[in-house]
Parts: sequence; structure tokens; C-alpha cells
Amino acid sequence: MRLEGVTKRYRGQQEAAVDDVTMEIPAGEIVMLVGPSGCGKTTTMKMINRLIEPTDGRILIGDEDVTHKDPDDLRRSIGYVIQGAGLFPHYTVGDNIGLVPKMLKWDAKRIRERVDEMLDLVSLDPDMYRNRYPRELSGGQQQRIGVARALAADPPVMLMDEPFGAVDPITRQRLQDELLSLQDELRKTIVFVTHDFDEAVKMGDRIAILNVGAEIVQYDTPDQILTNPASDFVESFIGHGAALKQLTLTRVRDVELHDAATTHEGDDPADAARKVREIGREHVLVLDDRDRPQRWLSLRDLEVPGRLDRVARDRDLDLVSGQSTLNDALDVMLTSSHGVVVVTGPRNRYEGVVRVETIMGAMSSIETTSAGPSARDTAEE
Ligand SMILES: Nc1ncnc2c1ncn2[C@@H]1O[C@H](COP(=O)(O)OP(=O)(O)O)[C@@H](O)[C@H]1O
Ligand SMILES: [Mg+2]
Repeated sequence: MRLEGVTKRYRGQQEAAVDDVTMEIPAGEIVMLVGPSGCGKTTTMKMINRLIEPTDGRILIGDEDVTHKDPDDLRRSIGYVIQGAGLFPHYTVGDNIGLVPKMLKWDAKRIRERVDEMLDLVSLDPDMYRNRYPRELSGGQQQRIGVARALAADPPVMLMDEPFGAVDPITRQRLQDELLSLQDELRKTIVFVTHDFDEAVKMGDRIAILNVGAEIVQYDTPDQILTNPASDFVESFIGHGAALKQLTLTRVRDVELHDAATTHEGDDPADAARKVREIGREHVLVLDDRDRPQRWLSLRDLEVPGRLDRVARDRDLDLVSGQSTLNDALDVMLTSSHGVVVVTGPRNRYEGVVRVETIMGAMSSIETTSAGPSARDTAEE
């Protein structure tokens, strides 16, 4: 995708909201637009799918100048995800996801199959969710439906405008991880707006840092922006603790996992306690019959005979995946009392744990290779 001299002047305003922007967005990559509120991010996005008409300039997708294309056709070929998902409240989940396929006149059976396929893709059980209404879903689930709806007609391009801005941090981390694993498979061309620099570093193949008028101050890989910020303005975005921010560049899948002591529902608590002592720890992780983590139990808990007969899932047990960054893992760790974070893989199966030592180790190796501010000051806050 290529923006050439794209400009938007709103009526009655002196300065252009988007002023002569030229940039190229490589196919199959995620490009993040980051910048302060009012700098023209949303206006830029809405010109790409022509919810807003540019005053000047051209936008090419492939070889086609979309500024001359029928806007309705165009919008059906571009997925659009906004904050709060923007679902139609009086439509079921299924009808929301099937909206664009229906406009494209797919037959009913194909739409039904596609809806279920999309629900599956965003990790929601089709039987449980297809007939619900948006108000019957959590914020994170609504946002997943928003992504499913945008992907339903398999558009090559997706525009995402602060899609995860309205959910809590843990849900946001999960949604980000899910989108990254989807992208591994789907290879869409994605333009993603955020005002959160950490999100930009985590999600972006490239980041465009914008100032007022959507002026591109720096357009580069996350790594380059962190190590060679182009100006004071960019540095102000990176902020303090660049070494800590660099934790966002390292994924959980890049570090060596440790083994926790694990046991299964129905096992003998005395055996479990022995395993815990063998590796010199205090807690055992209970897994269900499909190896999905349920909860931590302490050595003291295990003294109760029959304690493993039935083990309910701990709703506060926060998990990370290989896609998560070490920064995410650290966040989870700081709110848990175990000094470790549980890592799950495909089908939420237990894979291992990240220990706090692993994160500290990653931080100190970053500290010696970057000239950024000391990691230690930030880490001890
Ligand atoms: N419909 C509109 N009419 C007039 N001015 C607008 C309109 N939409 C946005 N603007 C102005 O254009 C500038 C860019 O807005 P926007 O693209 O929404 O920024 P961002 O998404 O980066 O916060 C702001 O100064 C905003 O006030
Ligand atoms: Mg905006």
C-alpha cells in the first residue's frame, strides 16, 4: 500500500489534519502508527477506506488507486476494527460476523460456516457464542468478535484503530498475543493505530512515529527506533527505561523455560509434595486431564489429604504464551506471588514457566548492549 502526498483539510480549519503524507506499507506486515492525540492518526486511516475523502493525494493498494474506486466496494475489501469493537447491538454475534459476507451475497450456508470458522479462529466456542448479543459478552470477547468480523470476508488489508484501547491490561495482552498468532498464519497487510508505544514495539514490524499533521518523524523497525531514535520527539515517546522497553522486543518463546513441579487432579498429594521439594520450590501447579493449568497449591495445601481430588480453576491464574513479550511476563509476575509465570502453548497446554531470574538476566544483557538509561533504576521501582 502506498500513500502519496495524502492531505486532509477539514472545512474551517487553518492547518491540515493530515499534511502531505507519503509512506509505503509493505504487504503482509503490521505497520504501527503512533503519535499524540489529535495528530491525525484516525483521519489517515479513514482516508485509506474512504470513510473520509482526502483533499489531495493518492492511495494505492497494489496497483490500484483506491481514491477512484467505489467506496462501498472498497470498504468490503478492507477489514476495519475500532475501539470498543463497534458491534451492532441488536444483531447477534453470528449476524455481526456475517455482515460483510452477506453484503457480498454469499449463500446462507457458506456464511454460517464462515461465522463458525471465524469464532473458532478467535478462540470462542461457536455453539456457545454465535447466538448471543454483544451485551452478553465481556469487553475482550466483543473485541475478538470485532476482529472476527473484520476478517470474515478475508480482506487482504486490515485497518485497526486503537482496537485494544478499552480493555484491561491483561485482556489487552491476550488479544495482542492472539492477533500475532493469527498474523503468523494470515499474513495480512495491517495498519494499526495506537498511542501506546509498548504496544507499537510489540505488535509492529515497522513503526511510524507521527507528529501533528501526521508528519512522519521516524519510520523504522522497533529495534532501530529504540536504539537510534531520530529526534528528541521520538525519545520522548520511548521515555525512560529504554532497557525495560527492550524487554518488549524479547518474546517468551525466545527464552529458555524452566519446569515447575506439576501434578494432576486426582493424584496423591504426598507424591506432589515430594516433586516440589525435589526441585527446591514451594508450590505445585495442578493441571487438568488435558494438561491445562488450573491453580497453584502450596506445600501446606498439600498436607490436606485428598486435596487433589477436585481442583477448581483459579480465575486469577494469569498465563502467557510464546507470543507474549518478557514485558508482559514481568507484568503478570508482579501481580502474582510466585515469582514465576506459567506459559501455555497450543490448546492452552502447559509448557513451562518463566522465572524472575530469566527476566532479570535478559534485562542485564540488554543493559550492557544498549546505551539507554540504566535498567536497574526502573526495575527497582
Ligand atoms: N470531522 C472533523 N472535522 C473537523 N476537524 C476534525 C474532524 N475530525 C478530526 N478533526 C481534527 O483533525 C485533527 C486530527 O484528528 P484525528 O485524526 O482524529 O487524530 P488522532 O486520531 O491522531 O487523535 C484534530 O485536530 C481533530 O480535531
Ligand atoms: Mg484517533
